[in-house]
Amino acid sequence: MSEAEAWLASGKARVEAAMLALLPAEDSEPARLHEAMRYAALNGGKRFRAGLIYAAGAALNAPADALDRLAAAVEFIHAYSLVHDDLPAMDDDGLRRGLPTLHVAWDEATAILAGDALQALAFEALARPLPAVSALAQLQTLNEVAFAIGSMGMAGGQAMDIEAEGRKLPVAALEGVHQRKTGRLIQACVVGAAHLSGSPDATREALSTYALHLGLAYQVHDDVLDETSDTATLGKTAGADARREKSTYPSCLGIDGSQQLAERLCDQAITALPPLPGDASALVALARWAIARHH
Ligand code: IPE
Ligand code: IPE
Ligand code: MG
Ligand code: MG
Ligand code: MG
Repeated sequence: MSEAEAWLASGKARVEAAMLALLPAEDSEPARLHEAMRYAALNGGKRFRAGLIYAAGAALNAPADALDRLAAAVEFIHAYSLVHDDLPAMDDDGLRRGLPTLHVAWDEATAILAGDALQALAFEALARPLPAVSALAQLQTLNEVAFAIGSMGMAGGQAMDIEAEGRKLPVAALEGVHQRKTGRLIQACVVGAAHLSGSPDATREALSTYALHLGLAYQVHDDVLDETSDTATLGKTAGADARREKSTYPSCLGIDGSQQLAERLCDQAITALPPLPGDASALVALARWAIARHH
């Protein structure tokens, strides 16, 4: 197992324990919705965003409880985003993390509401007081995450992604879409961990640049995998982007050009890392893993 894989495996166990503790009991009313939320949030996933939060936390000596809270919140948000991304009105996908998508296994109304409720649960978790962190640092983290997923971030990027279907965006415009729909939440993982650890502004800004490049690279590689991998390996439908005539990096730059760009972005991310008080090796390993992963 590589350093990154070992890091992700331990982060996965840690974040899933935190998520389990925050999710409402399965048998509490409305039980069907609560069951659907668990299905969406707990069934698999690489937990890259959680792993990245723990990596930033290790490099910054951040309080463990605060990292668990941020990691759980971000994975709830990410799970919600996937449930909505797969809806018939969006990408219309039937398979996610190797299982039927929520709207297939349950129904569309439940999928919409489970996504809504997971998003709310994330903010409830972020806003619950943490003994080791100042209220201001918690508020800054919450502000960062909210910005990252609203109309200037993920939701905006998803709107632009849908509008671009059937069109060929120039690469500069595509960069804006991918930054928003995927990059900003990844950036909020690292910047949020910096707020929670009380890092100086210059450190947080340099880490933000690291995560900006990494976040884009992550979605460039996702586009590449959609064309080069298969459904069984991905646990989601391969070739879905071409079927929906999505604007993707391979459609602009080709597979080789996209992979070269991902490598450049990974190098730029690692180069941007500032001197850090703790161990930054997982930040480097995760950046390399993000563009070499097979699913
Ligand atoms: C898929 O994200 C959607 C993107 C924003 C690229 P991941 O590839 O991190 O999905 P999981 O969480 O491992 O299923
Ligand atoms: C998803 O992008 C971005 C999100 C905010 C969920 P994709 O539509 O490419 O993600 P996959 O390939 O379905 O996982
Ligand atoms: Mg999509
Ligand atoms: Mg999709
Ligand atoms: Mg994709």
